[in-house]
Amino acid sequence: MLFLNRIVKKRIGIGTWSWGNKLFWNYKSSNDDDLRETYNEALERGFDLIDTADSYGTGNYQGRSESLIGKFLLDTPSAKKKRIQIATKLAPYPWRIGDKGFNKPFLKSLERLNNKLDIVQLHWSTAKYNPYQELGFLNNLCDLKDQGFDFQIGLSNIGPKRLQKLINYLSIRDKNIQSVQIQFSLLAPDLQKQYQVKNICEENNIDFFAYSPLSFGILCIDPDKDENKERSFIRNLLFENYKKSTYELRRVLKSIAKQRSVSQAQVAVNWCCYQGTIPLVGMRKKSQVIDISNVFKWNLNKNEFNYLQEISRKCLKKMPNNPFTSV
Ligand SMILES: NC(=O)c1ccc[n+]([C@@H]2O[C@H](COP(=O)([O-])OP(=O)(O)OC[C@H]3O[C@@H](n4cnc5c(N)ncnc54)[C@H](OP(=O)(O)O)[C@@H]3O)[C@@H](O)[C@H]2O)c1
Repeated sequence: MLFLNRIVKKRIGIGTWSWGNKLFWNYKSSNDDDLRETYNEALERGFDLIDTADSYGTGNYQGRSESLIGKFLLDTPSAKKKRIQIATKLAPYPWRIGDKGFNKPFLKSLERLNNKLDIVQLHWSTAKYNPYQELGFLNNLCDLKDQGFDFQIGLSNIGPKRLQKLINYLSIRDKNIQSVQIQFSLLAPDLQKQYQVKNICEENNIDFFAYSPLSFGILCIDPDKDENKERSFIRNLLFENYKKSTYELRRVLKSIAKQRSVSQAQVAVNWCCYQGTIPLVGMRKKSQVIDISNVFKWNLNKNEFNYLQEISRKCLKKMPNNPFTSV
């Protein structure tokens, strides 16, 4: 794909927030075989990035997403393993402070992932309430790299001003940022700010990961059918809440999908790809991987993209913002 005079390879990541999350995603360990199938199918079909976090997994399932990926990695041939990037996020809990506060969590994640960890991201910015904590985190990661651990540094839920500051801060230690992930979809809040982050990423050769590209699945709901899928209480509430306000947007997604004989999900994900971003799509079924892999085969045209932009602007009720996202 040609983007700002650069040839950009289309990439899509597998999001694994739901792998272990009962509260929002209704996770059941009896479905772990589905997750293994999801993982295997993704590797077969050219997905080369998996995003997880040490905080993924609720209650007793804390760390479950990383553990499952680690387990699946054990059965993955080394050539395939080399081809994919595993990105985790470490949570800046208030007790993880100083230049060594992330040593233990880092080693724990590395253990759960069976020593395959390519990108370590700060899960959210602490700039609003404890700006020094994230500087400690970055120093901690630089030290770990200097000690010989082989990984790249990433950020998440960061605003443009803080991002620029942290880029400069890291350059003093001769390190750079590999990736930044923020909420980015047709329903993402404050898209103008997200575009500022994206511009900084492009200027600094940083991969821009678009998280929640399907707005937790809302963008996939058929505007003309009443679906009776088994969902968590919170997700049902959320879907009910956004049904009316997103109707027009979903109707346009469906009309483009119909013309192209693809799914609504593919159109929404391709909207991210059109802009040179790397969407992290939450998937937990083989059928979802098969569907989304078709995004590698086609692109939106300019008219379709402009139409989606217009209808997204008109939809006034956007997804909730991550409260920690910095300025
Ligand atoms: N840094 C952060 O703070 C942060 C925050 C949120 C997310 N993330 C990352 O971004 C990833 C993706 O975001 P997300 O999980 O919030 O949600 P998402 O990608 O916007 O939506 C995922 C949901 O959409 C549905 N879906 C997926 N493919 C589909 C298809 N082909 N057809 C129909 N429906 C489909 C599935 O729901 P059903 O399975 O119920 O059908 C799936 O669980 C996360 O897993 C995580 O890795 C990061």
